[in-house]
Amino acid sequence: MPTSSSRPTSKQPASWAYAEQFVPEDDVLQRARERAADLDLEPVSPGVAATLTVLTAAGGARTVVEVGTGTGVSLLSLLRGMGEDGVVTTIDSDGEAQRAAREAVADDGIRTNRARFINGRALEVLPRLTDGAYDLVLLDGDEREYSAYLEQAHRLLRVGGVLVVDDALFKGRVVDPAVRDTSTVALREVARVVLEDGNWFPTLLPSGDGLLVAVKHS
Ligand SMILES: C[S@@+](CC[C@H](N)C(=O)[O-])C[C@H]1O[C@@H](n2cnc3c(N)ncnc32)[C@H](O)[C@@H]1O
Repeated sequence: MPTSSSRPTSKQPASWAYAEQFVPEDDVLQRARERAADLDLEPVSPGVAATLTVLTAAGGARTVVEVGTGTGVSLLSLLRGMGEDGVVTTIDSDGEAQRAAREAVADDGIRTNRARFINGRALEVLPRLTDGAYDLVLLDGDEREYSAYLEQAHRLLRVGGVLVVDDALFKGRVVDPAVRDTSTVALREVARVVLEDGNWFPTLLPSGDGLLVAVKHS
């Protein structure tokens, strides 16, 4: 029997929609979303975008790694929360998407050297980045590779750094034990490891399609 605080109510969907749209998006972000639609890519949701800005601003992040640049919705959101010296290293295997993201950064008036674009496969690029040098790592790439990304993220983050995993609920598939495709199993495994391996302070936020956020403590 659910407790009164966990019992769903008929007003919940409207509340979730209200929360997702709580921070209105400007024209620059909307244009980045339109470019994503043109390229058939799925950017982070408005609620996740606002959360990324809050996380980089609250933590005073200066160095961030992003897996999955797309057309730059999450990239802009991360950069907007960072100071003028903040740099995001963003990795994507799709050069066309990264060209669109470059346009979005220019469109926003952000100094171009604050976004370090690396065109390549995440598992070839991540091992070349420096240990313990990053304040936040965002995973929004190929879900099937998330266990390997997680190992790299733990290595790259300083103690106190923040791991963020988008699509952590994966359209309802993660919570349904009958769903066993590779991406869903990989997302479940990442959530389990973050919860159980003793290195993280984790939480799973119901933003967008689920946002796993964890602070590295060891
Ligand atoms: C969901 S989109 C990212 C959306 C972006 N974070 C945003 O909010 O605009 C996922 C991106 O991951 C990239 N990707 C997929 N597999 C990859 C891999 N193995 N290495 C690097 N990038 C990859 C895709 O090309 C795609 O642009």
